[in-house]
Amino acid sequence: MSHQPKILMCPPDHYGIEYEINPWMNRQRGSDRNAAHSQWRHLTEQLEQAGAVLRFIDPVPGLPDLVFTANAGLVHQSCVYLSRFRHSARQPETEFNRIWFQQAGFECKELPIEWSFEGAGDALFCGATLFGGYIIRSDAAAMQWLAAEIGCEALALQLVDDRYYHLDTCFCPLDAESAIWYPPAFDDYAQRVVPARIPRLIEVRADEAVRFACNAVVIGETVVLNTGCPQLCRDLTRAGFRPVETPLDEFIKAGGSAKCLTLRLDGEDAKR
Ligand code: ARG
Repeated sequence: MSHQPKILMCPPDHYGIEYEINPWMNRQRGSDRNAAHSQWRHLTEQLEQAGAVLRFIDPVPGLPDLVFTANAGLVHQSCVYLSRFRHSARQPETEFNRIWFQQAGFECKELPIEWSFEGAGDALFCGATLFGGYIIRSDAAAMQWLAAEIGCEALALQLVDDRYYHLDTCFCPLDAESAIWYPPAFDDYAQRVVPARIPRLIEVRADEAVRFACNAVVIGETVVLNTGCPQLCRDLTRAGFRPVETPLDEFIKAGGSAKCLTLRLDGEDAKR
């Protein structure tokens, strides 16, 4: 790779299960603070070993999901399209993200007020095409608006399983021609569109999809993901990638894993 990938993360100081906005979250099943810290720290080490440069946004009391920086926005070159969260519990995150991006020198753009959009959780480039997950957290119209702004093609994919409420929970571009995916999370049309557009697909098994197998961070050939996905690890190795497993169960309690905890600042652009 010609440059070092830059990744935004947020320490889990104020992480916890304080509300329930997806089927994974249950306030009765809180997170263990020490375990969350050590899992998060271990993830940062794996990412650094894979060659990433990490940047950090300060955690904010009362915003437990700010750790999931994938949802801060979609970065494209020097511009960030800030998220407009579906649920009011996460809406205050946007102001803190805006301040961070402004201070980091990004141009901050916002989507029209009528649409929800949850950033790189739902909008992922595979090659030059933007794949956008919609209906549960983001709106299809937001994807079309983004495509026009960026000047790229967008394919809106409807998500049909509440457990896989963001695109990055069931789809992960590996490079311009390959991706990991879990087809049952998509409607029939999307299940036809993805294979028509991406020549090499690795299909994840149901028992590994619930381990957030698709929620992986790709850094060149390295693919960092949660533990408990042995079949995907074998398939990745066979396809020429290097899977690295790191335990992230504390974050699955909130419906997130490796990818959700990161945001590529040099673009969610697998083709690089
Ligand atoms: N509890 C968070 C939510 O429901 C988890 C976000 C996970 N982020 C992601 N990119 N999938 O919004």
